[in-house]
Amino acid sequence: MEYGKIVLAHRILVSLFLLHYVVKLILLLINKNETLASYTKVTKVPEMIISAFFLISGGYLVFAGPALHILQTIKIVCVLASIPIAIIGFKKGNKVLALLSVVLLFAAYGLAEVAKKKMRTMQVETNEVSATATPLEAGKVIYDQQCSRCHGEGGNAEIAGAKNLKLSVLSAEEATAIIIGGKGTMPAFEALTSDQTNVVIEYINTFKEQQ
Ligand code: HEC
Repeated sequence: MEYGKIVLAHRILVSLFLLHYVVKLILLLINKNETLASYTKVTKVPEMIISAFFLISGGYLVFAGPALHILQTIKIVCVLASIPIAIIGFKKGNKVLALLSVVLLFAAYGLAEVAKKKMRTMQVETNEVSATATPLEAGKVIYDQQCSRCHGEGGNAEIAGAKNLKLSVLSAEEATAIIIGGKGTMPAFEALTSDQTNVVIEYINTFKEQQ
């Protein structure tokens, strides 16, 4: 299956999981213990299935995806910590622990959104692209900072469903549109200037000659 489709499936599972735990938390907080007990009973099997797929898809995304941003690592720690806390909290009817587990889940969700946004607007450190660098050297600096985590050093790593740049047949205009606007799971590099985009395209064109 395609990486982008698994990202989507993971997001849907996350939403279901969050919604389910919010319902459980509300029932617990307003002391509807009988309703909570029957809701828990009815949703027991679906919850097991959803949690399993949620964790499997998350594991796959980490395994097949680019190196994790620090915020994504903290997010995963929050999710993993919330599981035992939720189990104990809801089993014992402990409102503080139950609330804590749901707060951790929402914190994880928030961290994932912030990490996504940060990666989109990541600036190239201009001081690393020295004024005396040739366009190819400048392109390599940007590529290594921003692109190699998915496309790999040689352009053909294909991490997270990234296209093999050695085989790319796009014109400079088409490549620019994808780099600035993003496509599928490739983020939009809106912060790149047109000079930076041009030199990075010049650099990725060198991959094609090495075939
Ligand atoms: C998070 C992973 C990721 C990062 C980082 C990334 N890309 Fe991509 N890139 C992709 C994916 C996925 C595709 C395929 C998009 C599609 O067609 O659905 C792609 C496609 C492309 C294409 C189009 C290739 C073709 O022939 O269709 C170009 C060009 C490209 N990337 C250049 C870059 C450059 C330059 C950078 C750095 C500024 C970069 N990418 C950073 C994931 C990434």
